[in-house]
Amino acid sequence: MTEFADRVHRVKPSFTLEMTSRAAELRAQGVDVINFSAGQPDFNTPENIRQAAKTAMDNGDTKYTAGSGTIELRQAVCEKLKRENQLDVSPDQVLISNGEKQSLYLACQTLFQSGDEVLIFKPYWVSFPEFVTLADATPVLVDTDPKQNFEPDFEDLKSKINDRVKGIIINSPSNPTGSVWANEVIVDLLGMAKENGWIVISDECYERLVFDGEFTSAQKLSDDHQIGANIITCMSMSKTYAMTGWRIGYAFGEKSILKAMSKIQGQATSCANSIGQAASVEALLGDQSAVEMMREKFKERRDLMVSLLNGLPGVSCDTPGGAFYAFPDFSTYIGQTFCGEVIKDSFDLSDVILSEAKVVTVPGDGFGAPGHIRFSYPLGEDVIREGIHRVKKVLENFDNN
Ligand SMILES: Cc1ncc(COP(=O)(O)O)c(C=O)c1O
Repeated sequence: MTEFADRVHRVKPSFTLEMTSRAAELRAQGVDVINFSAGQPDFNTPENIRQAAKTAMDNGDTKYTAGSGTIELRQAVCEKLKRENQLDVSPDQVLISNGEKQSLYLACQTLFQSGDEVLIFKPYWVSFPEFVTLADATPVLVDTDPKQNFEPDFEDLKSKINDRVKGIIINSPSNPTGSVWANEVIVDLLGMAKENGWIVISDECYERLVFDGEFTSAQKLSDDHQIGANIITCMSMSKTYAMTGWRIGYAFGEKSILKAMSKIQGQATSCANSIGQAASVEALLGDQSAVEMMREKFKERRDLMVSLLNGLPGVSCDTPGGAFYAFPDFSTYIGQTFCGEVIKDSFDLSDVILSEAKVVTVPGDGFGAPGHIRFSYPLGEDVIREGIHRVKKVLENFDNN
């Protein structure tokens, strides 16, 4: 048998994508599945953006572009950052990549290596520890407080400080919790990063999906508070414009770092796809009304989802401030039995919910959060109601109920 490189064994598969595949498989078998595992809007990409892609193809924008992205798109990103985030960024500080995921991966490849430690808050998005591992560095998990909006536990953070720490990854609004950290918390983190010489990778892909209050980019907080933190910010077309399949994201920050990231991207994938880049110019500069329409819809669905989850026996769910995930606490069910089988952890619980109710969820243990389950809600309201009704029936059939 062919022997694989060590990194293949070290890296874990993306189990959120696995859950999505399981849902698709069941559906293909004709099973009536409700899928609460999706990490993407259910809307199609807005019409003006689709139209821009068609025009780009007809105009022959079908060739390789500059490795760091077309100048038109990098300029559009700068305009967007000025308009929405009050940030002054120049095109040579911007890298366009194949989805924000690639920007995050490249940032880790560029900045970290063997011997480095990178701080990641748990619950974490599944790819963060893997990006760090793929860069031969070590992810160090830091606790958050579920009772305080999953904000960092600063005591735990301080206990993890040592000379090997090179960077810190933050993600607000968060996948999987949907929580939006208070600006003061981010300011404190940036201050610590500056003091200790850590580079900050700020994943802001859900920046336009904030339901209560205003979003402020970490870079803006650093500027306003004159912190001078070294931040690589990563943003995405995927969630804001319902463009997950187009695979366009971007990063910005210190010029030399972006140049180094671009160098690796050039050898890995050359550039992001030309048609997606042309469509993204329209997305960033054209009519923004679809963004607000989708945000409002997600807010209504969030409120429905949270109220239904809180109606489940023994389950509690705080209201998340952003993204499209609810992250309820099901820990009262861990250790209980269902049909004589002990439910050891949230993997078992998600499995029972899938096999009994044909409802796909994502177990919190996979995000470093035992006892929790992630419910994505980019679904119609009737589907959300039916899905939670099915989960309720499963919970009522636990052995000691
Ligand atoms: C926290 C987080 N960051 C980044 C991404 C990747 O986004 P993109 O589609 O731009 O690669 C996702 C996608 O689910 C995400 O949840």
